[in-house]
Amino acid sequence: MNRPDNIAIIATVAKNGVIGKQGVPPWHIQEDIEHFLKKTEHASIVVGRRTFEALSREHRSKISHRRIIIMSRHEDYKVHGKLTAHNWPAVVDYARTTEQNVFVIGGQSLFKLALPVASNVYLTRVDQDAEGDAQFPPWNPEGWKRVENDDCKCKQDCGVKFSFETWQRGNAAQV
Ligand SMILES: NC(=O)c1ccc[n+]([C@@H]2O[C@H](COP(=O)([O-])OP(=O)(O)OC[C@H]3O[C@@H](n4cnc5c(N)ncnc54)[C@H](OP(=O)(O)O)[C@@H]3O)[C@@H](O)[C@H]2O)c1
Repeated sequence: MNRPDNIAIIATVAKNGVIGKQGVPPWHIQEDIEHFLKKTEHASIVVGRRTFEALSREHRSKISHRRIIIMSRHEDYKVHGKLTAHNWPAVVDYARTTEQNVFVIGGQSLFKLALPVASNVYLTRVDQDAEGDAQFPPWNPEGWKRVENDDCKCKQDCGVKFSFETWQRGNAAQV
């Protein structure tokens, strides 16, 4: 069966592939948070139960008007006002029935599930290694094209250099 074309991944990744340390991101980049909010503004969000539970009250309130689907294997897992999905095919079925884009926002286990299916990957590349215990899955960019690549930024006092990239599944050469 054809893959739906509205599933995207949005992730922030260190040079060495690290995305998280002890349940939280190893950095705080305000501009990246704003980038995330802008890209996902009119989309549904799919999030792993661990990442959802680690979100601060402030971050939850910033995304609370989006349709949020929390993945958990526990059939009785419920959060008021949120949808739950108990397996990956349920997420793919959901994507087929919605006109919204469906952004998978992490963590590690969800990126692994979504990468073979996603049509777009929005990557914030952090220009340094990070210590951590969660990684972005191995990804071969063959078969993908980079359609946006912002210059490396080092904003205000976050002390971290980073850049925004957008990748689309396809066969054209990289830009
Ligand atoms: N840098 C980034 O862009 C970024 C973004 C988000 C998160 N992160 C990092 O990622 C790390 C967390 O990743 P994680 O893998 O430990 O946790 P996670 O992906 O956030 O959540 C894992 C949970 O999702 C549920 N789940 C996973 N696969 C499932 C499936 N096939 N069917 C049903 N439910 C499923 C399970 O919940 P139950 O246990 O309830 O069954 C599982 O324990 C943290 O360090 C976080 O900071 C980084």
